[in-house]
Formats: sequence, C-alpha cells, structure tokens
Amino acid sequence: MCGIIGYTGSVFAASKVVLDGLERLEYRGYDSAGLATIKGSGLLVNRGSGKLRLIRSVLEKGMGSESVAIGHTRWATHGKPTEENAHPHVDNARRIVVVHNGIIENYLDLKGELSAKGHRFDSQTDTEIIAHLLADMENPDFLVSFRQAVLRLEGAYALAVLHVNYPDRIFFARKNCPLIVGHSENEGMFLGSDPAAMLSYTRTVTYLNDLEYGYIDPTSVHLFSLNSGEPLPIQKEVLDWNPVAAEKGGYRHFMLKEIHEQPDVVRNTLGGRLDEARGKVLLPDFQISPEQFSKIDRIVITACGTAYYSGLVGKYVLERLCRIPVDAELASEFRYRDPVINEKTLVIAVSQSGETADTLAAIELARARGATTMAIVNVKGSSLTRRVDGTLYIHAGPEIGVASTKAYLAMVVGFELFALYLSEIRNTLSSDSRREFIHELKLIPGKIEEQLKHKEDVLQVAQKYQNYRNFLYLGRDYNYPTALEGALKLKELSYIHAEGYASGEMKHGPIALLDRDCPVVAILSESSVYEKVLSNIQEARARDCLVIGVLTEGSTHSASVVDDSLITQRTIEVLSPLLNVIPLQLFAYFVSDLKGLDVDQPRNLAKSVTVE
Ligand code: AGP
Repeated sequence: MCGIIGYTGSVFAASKVVLDGLERLEYRGYDSAGLATIKGSGLLVNRGSGKLRLIRSVLEKGMGSESVAIGHTRWATHGKPTEENAHPHVDNARRIVVVHNGIIENYLDLKGELSAKGHRFDSQTDTEIIAHLLADMENPDFLVSFRQAVLRLEGAYALAVLHVNYPDRIFFARKNCPLIVGHSENEGMFLGSDPAAMLSYTRTVTYLNDLEYGYIDPTSVHLFSLNSGEPLPIQKEVLDWNPVAAEKGGYRHFMLKEIHEQPDVVRNTLGGRLDEARGKVLLPDFQISPEQFSKIDRIVITACGTAYYSGLVGKYVLERLCRIPVDAELASEFRYRDPVINEKTLVIAVSQSGETADTLAAIELARARGATTMAIVNVKGSSLTRRVDGTLYIHAGPEIGVASTKAYLAMVVGFELFALYLSEIRNTLSSDSRREFIHELKLIPGKIEEQLKHKEDVLQVAQKYQNYRNFLYLGRDYNYPTALEGALKLKELSYIHAEGYASGEMKHGPIALLDRDCPVVAILSESSVYEKVLSNIQEARARDCLVIGVLTEGSTHSASVVDDSLITQRTIEVLSPLLNVIPLQLFAYFVSDLKGLDVDQPRNLAKSVTVE
C-alpha cells in the first residue's frame, strides 16, 4: 500500500505541499519516496530509497515555487526498494511522469508489447509501464488517450500523472485503490491516497469511485466515467477529522482500520496469481522451480507468534492438499534442537516483518544443512528475503498495529496459494478440485466484508465478557491454529489470560480449569469435526461454563448449545480459518478498547522482535 499526493495551484509551493503530504502518508509505506514537477518545458524528478526524513534534502533539490507537483511514498510490491524502483516513473522522452498505488496484474504482457516497440525500461516495477503506455498511445487530446491507456490496465490502481504539455493539470484514475480530490477555495486543488495528506490545507474532499478518471486544474476537478467517457457530477464532503485521525482513516485505532482492510488485503495478495479457468496458481516471479519442488519429500514451517499460527494452518492445508509430511516449528525451538533436515527438506519461514531474530536464525540453520529455503513475508527486501532461495510475498501493506491482524490473514492466504501451487506440481488434486478451491478463495474478501457488517454483534459479546480473567479457546483440525491465534489476540491486547487448546485435549487436563469464571470460546463452524467439537462444548457446559461459539451463519442447532454466538460465513473447510479468525480479532479488539487499554501499542510488546 503506497501513498500518493499531488497539488496544482498558485498559492502554495507545490513541492512543499507534496513533501508535507508524503510525511503524513509514511504510515502507508516508507521504503522509498519521490516527487516530480514541471519546470520550464521539462520534468524535474527526484527520488530516493529510505525513510523520507533521510532523503528529504535529495527530494527538495532544484525544487522552487512550482505550481504543480505529484509525489509518492512506496511500499514495495514489484521490485526491491531501491532508487530506480522508487516512484515517480517517466517515459523515455521524459514528457510524462506517473505515480501509482496498487498492482498492475498484466504488466508483464504490456511490458513485452512496449519493449517490442522500442521502449526501454529502467526499473523492475509494474508502474513504469504505465508511463510508457501513456506515451505509446498518446494522441493530440491527452485526456482521450489517457482513458484508452488506462482501460488496458488490469488489476488495482490509483494514478496521478503529469504531462509537460498541460503544466497546470494532474490527470488521475482509480480502480480498487483509494484516491481523493481535495478542494481548497481559490488556493488550488489536491489529489491524494487519503485525507491525511491534505488535511492541513483542506477538509473539503471528493472520494473518487472505481473506474473514474479525469484531471484537476488549479480551480476545479473534471471527472468522467472510465467505461463511458461521460462527465460525472462532483460529490463533496467536509471532514471533521484531525490529521492523526485521518491516518487511521477515521477509525479509532490502526488495528480496527487494519481489520477492515482485510478484504482488500486478500484481494491484493491473490491479485494476478489465480487462473480459475485452468485451475492454476500463477507465481511468475517465484525463484524456486517446479523441478526443485518435485524433489522435496518433507516440509518444515518455522516462525514466531502469530506468524507461527499461520504456519500451523499451513501445515494442515499443505498436508491435506499436497500429501506431503509437514511440521510447523517455533523458530526459537527449531534453531537450538539440532533438527534432522537435509537437501530434500523444504523449510518455509513465515514473517510479517522479515526481521524476527529467531526466524532469521532458524532459516540460517536450514540453509547450513542443505535444505531448500523459502519465505512467506510482507516487507519487500527485508532480511529474510535475502536469506532464502525463494520468496512468496503477501501484500498486506504496512501493519501499524502491534497485534497482527491483516498480515496474519495474508500469511494464511499465502499458504493456501502455495498449497494449491504445490498440489499441481505433485499432482495431488484434480483440476476440478483446484478450480473449486480458486472459486471459493475469490469469494473470501466479500465474505469478510459481510462479516464486518455485523461487528456490533461482536461488541455486545465483548461487553458481556470483558471482566473475566481467564478464557479457554478451543478448536480442531484446520481451526486448532485459529483457537491459538484467537487466544493470543486476547492475551496481547487485553492482558487477560487466554489459552488456546486442541478441543480434543480438553479432557486431558484443561477441563479442570472450567467453571463459571472461565468462559470457553469454541470454534464450532461447519466442518468434518463439528460433532466432535460439539461434544467438547457439552462437556464444558456440564461444568457450568459459559460458551461463546464461532458459528457458521444459519446453523440454528449450534446456536442452541452456546451462550453467545460469533457468526461467520460459510466456505469450504480448508478456507474456514480465513473467516473464523475475524470475529476473534474483533472480540479481542473490543475487550481491549472497553478496558481503555492501548490497542495499537499494547504494553511490553514490539512490532518486530529483532532480538532473541
Ligand atoms: C502478533 O500479534 C505479534 N505481534 C507477534 O506474535 C508477531 O506475530 C511475531 O513477533 C512474529 O513477527 P513477524 O511476523 O514479523 O516475524
């Protein structure tokens, strides 16, 4: 998730507006930044890699009181976080410059087409092809050719574009990525990824919708439908946010915002990787070949904390779909226990930050013993990605809340994708089964959105249980890891003791804990082990225990055997962890907020544990 800002007008120095805006947007991505303006008859483009405060002087070089500028702060998806991959990107003639948030799924096809026409590329990014495509398709009315070029883009984009022939205009288009116009009476016009970038100048905004395009000039916005080309009416809103609230998108906390970003995070992580018609997962830039994978006879997944729980889901999914032995190991244990691994072992390290010390050490051990190593990771170019043979990136964007939510979900999606990919190599799933899997996977974002509409129901349950001091979370099979993750969320956010357990293990000891003061949270969604979990719940209730059930929508029988329900949408069992974790994230969030705790930065925790 990157940040975009643009300004056109004669009241403020455009480069200063952009640099201030980029500072406000750094929470969206911060591995590199850049800005562009029109100086005389040409473009001035400054870029740098690293945090904005370290490269600000580089970005200001040569900038003065220009009247138009666009800027970008990057969260790398395609191409390492280097200067040549930083935005803005220009065409070969340096007449058009682009900044972009999103993922262009057909960029490789377009890059091949443009290269064949003689276009030369300087970066590894998908964005750069947009500048070349705009130049290649340019006609006398740039707005017409702008629309035609944008119609050729597949995937997600929020674009801001300058053209030297239109020195007071910023062209824009959006699809599946936020983009907002800021109106400032007589002081110019703004364009940005979210209001945070422009709040110090204006609170009057227009939220652009998908498949809209147009341009802003110093006095107004000109808005059109991408499909029809017809002009559209301008809807203005006046925001009462303060700048910090804007960074949270109007949510009380970054964690709540990130929980709500999860539908788009799943879409972005799946983006460009699913071919439903052929039942295939596409990992075009994956550095490990199918031949290498075909030699593997065992998989070890290693990670810490929430990432480990995503790896535990991965164990269940990979064994079921690929019929290969899989172990999930805590990195802090794996690195010291002298494990038996060899060149036929695939070791997968999973990590949001890619900097967790124990996970890095575990993968070093794996390499030293000849294993093939792979990472599932969020941060592009992080240490972990430089120590493995291949990386499968998730696209969760920067996760500010210390308690992981969207990154966890994206990691699980990463394992679902990899399992499907490996199942084809190992020929352990029919193409029909893969097609059904892909079809259901593509429905997950919408199902999460549906569940989030009922978050008030979760709040009511949290209000009822906020003062209990102990909880037991129970799950089985695919959702045993979900129980562990749900318990960790409550622990780290509300400082309440919560233990995750395989529900079949309850009678082997933990049942001694159960009484009126120790509620059970049980994952009782529709599954092949539903009856087993149900009997565990009845054992718990026989001890006068209160039970909160995570139930599949419409399962009336389940509702009668629990005291309170957290409802999830129906899906195939192998994907159920993606839906069942959502109410558990919300439950932990609401309990923490009700108790007045620091949701985004819980006590004693760090976002990335870079020491042992
Ligand atoms: C999760 O809510 C915690 N913040 C923590 O357990 C985290 O998952 C763990 O430290 C691993 O971090 P990583 O994903 O960056 O490797």
